[in-house]
Amino acid sequence: MKIVAKKNIKRIVACFLAVMMLFVTACGSAPKEPGDDPVTGEKPDHLVVGFSIDSYLIERWQRDTDIFAAKLKELDSEAEVNLQNANGDLETQKEQIKYLIEKRVDVLVIVCIDSDSLSDVVAEAKSAGIPVIAYDRLIKNADVDLYISFDNEMVGQLMGQSLVDAGLPNKKVMMLSGPNEDNNVSLVETGFKRVMDENGIEIVDAYHAPGWKAEDAAAYLSEHLNELDDVDAIMCGNDNIATKVIKTLSEARLAGKIKIVGQDADLEACQRVVEGTQVMTVYKPVEKLAQAAAQCTIELANNNELSTETDAMSDGSYDVPYYFLDPIAVTKDNMDDTVIASGFHMKEEVYMNVTN
Ligand code: BGC
Repeated sequence: MKIVAKKNIKRIVACFLAVMMLFVTACGSAPKEPGDDPVTGEKPDHLVVGFSIDSYLIERWQRDTDIFAAKLKELDSEAEVNLQNANGDLETQKEQIKYLIEKRVDVLVIVCIDSDSLSDVVAEAKSAGIPVIAYDRLIKNADVDLYISFDNEMVGQLMGQSLVDAGLPNKKVMMLSGPNEDNNVSLVETGFKRVMDENGIEIVDAYHAPGWKAEDAAAYLSEHLNELDDVDAIMCGNDNIATKVIKTLSEARLAGKIKIVGQDADLEACQRVVEGTQVMTVYKPVEKLAQAAAQCTIELANNNELSTETDAMSDGSYDVPYYFLDPIAVTKDNMDDTVIASGFHMKEEVYMNVTN
């Protein structure tokens, strides 16, 4: 009896140990599939998109991310966006992207701060099997799965042509642009310079505001007011810079003497255009861009071919699929047919200060 009981106990202990061993081994080697939660090891059963954004300093980005998230939900009601805002700091952006890779999101969408500095983290994402979309700004030497943007050279061309059409009697302009780290800046300038060259206009000075900080552009302008005597116009890298530039000019009693152009169709800029204190702005239908990006995100997540037709753009090392939309020049004459007709801004808001 005793011997049998002892044997049974031994068997029970052996079984228990074996089960424990199996359990421990299983836990230790749980395969981590893309989408696995790094803590629980479980793959979320719905699509998770990692969205890394430079910052919300500029008006347009809220619209970009809101519409992206709304369109994604419309296409897949379960889908979720894990949004990370780097507040303009490159190291923070890199850390946030690494965190999203660790979270094993299904697709990464990035508005980069510095077009030249993300190839390493994009390589990490790609080796973790996560497709990457460069949203609005190209990420260089990174072989992203898609670069989706507006035709930025055309943005510059439209700015230049509007100034030429408005008249530049002294044939001299100044440029107060965004940072060189943003690849869009050089593309816009290429388009702008082309029109200036074709029309024999001299670009007398150019400044690049670090991190798109409009106050830095305005400070630079304040220090160079004495050089503005025969400058006909200032090409502002965006409408936010234009806002600060116009304020600086009016404080120096130079408002109206110097023609201003910008981009983004910010509400204040559209108001200035109809009021006559800004020649034009470039309207970029970001709602279309964000919706197309959401559509492509779903396709990449499902390993499907992109349904949108793409061109190729060199990122310095690779030709990457490039999907682009056309920007639209907006002046007083077509404000109603563009910005207002599309619902980008409401007529009452744009014409708020205009009395008939
Ligand atoms: C975009 C502009 C924007 C700027 C600052 C650029 O890359 O093309 O639309 O105003 O970044 O955020």
